[in-house]
Amino acid sequence: MNRFDKRGWNVNIRTVQKEDIKACHRIEQACFESGEAASLKSIQERAAVYPDGFIVAEIDHSVVGMVNSGSTDSDDITDEAFKKLIGHTENGKNIVVFSVSVLPEFQGKGIASALMKQFIKRAGQLKKDKILLLCKTDLIPFYKRLGFEYGGISDSTHGGSKWHEMVFRLSPMPDQWAGPDKIQNRP
Ligand SMILES: CC(C)(COP(=O)(O)OP(=O)(O)OC[C@H]1O[C@@H](n2cnc3c(N)ncnc32)[C@H](O)[C@@H]1OP(=O)(O)O)[C@@H](O)C(=O)NCCC(=O)NCCS
Repeated sequence: MNRFDKRGWNVNIRTVQKEDIKACHRIEQACFESGEAASLKSIQERAAVYPDGFIVAEIDHSVVGMVNSGSTDSDDITDEAFKKLIGHTENGKNIVVFSVSVLPEFQGKGIASALMKQFIKRAGQLKKDKILLLCKTDLIPFYKRLGFEYGGISDSTHGGSKWHEMVFRLSPMPDQWAGPDKIQNRP
């Protein structure tokens, strides 16, 4: 379990549970345009197939943010089918982030940063080599501050947008990220 107090909010970061799916889908819809947002079925699949790679932030028992992912041996993360976990390999060397999102009314308070820090620790504990993700231009500095390197412009045309690849090398794990994974596990 990882709790932190942010401007009076008691934020808890933990692994996803079945009961969180609807809230996670609402977050996805609130945060991404219709061409980019994952469907309820996709969110359900991600939580069911790879809960270790799906963490949520909750405030007063209400889920307000999430990070979900899949795992693969491939370095090519432009494959749209992979977002439905086609080709997902639990023991793959890479962990690929599909969605980092925080409800608009809770943005700007450090919740995504806290989620990503826990996610990086989790990925290290899962013995992954790299975390890979695609982001838009304005979020490159956010990921760089967390320790990601710029990986170039992606071939992905997801949602008709331009995407950049970001890479976090976990092997060897940078010192500041070593230590126990404090995320609350599934019951
Ligand atoms: C991006 C997002 C997850 C950030 O969540 P958040 O909880 O507000 O993030 P934090 O409060 O931890 O802020 C992280 C930093 O990123 C910056 N940031 C957040 N959104 C940004 C944006 N759209 N453009 C530029 N910088 C942004 C913040 O200013 C902050 O910078 P700071 O550390 O210097 O203060 C959230 O805005 C969101 O859900 N957006 C819609 C979905 C999305 O685009 N997800 C990213 C997919 S790659």
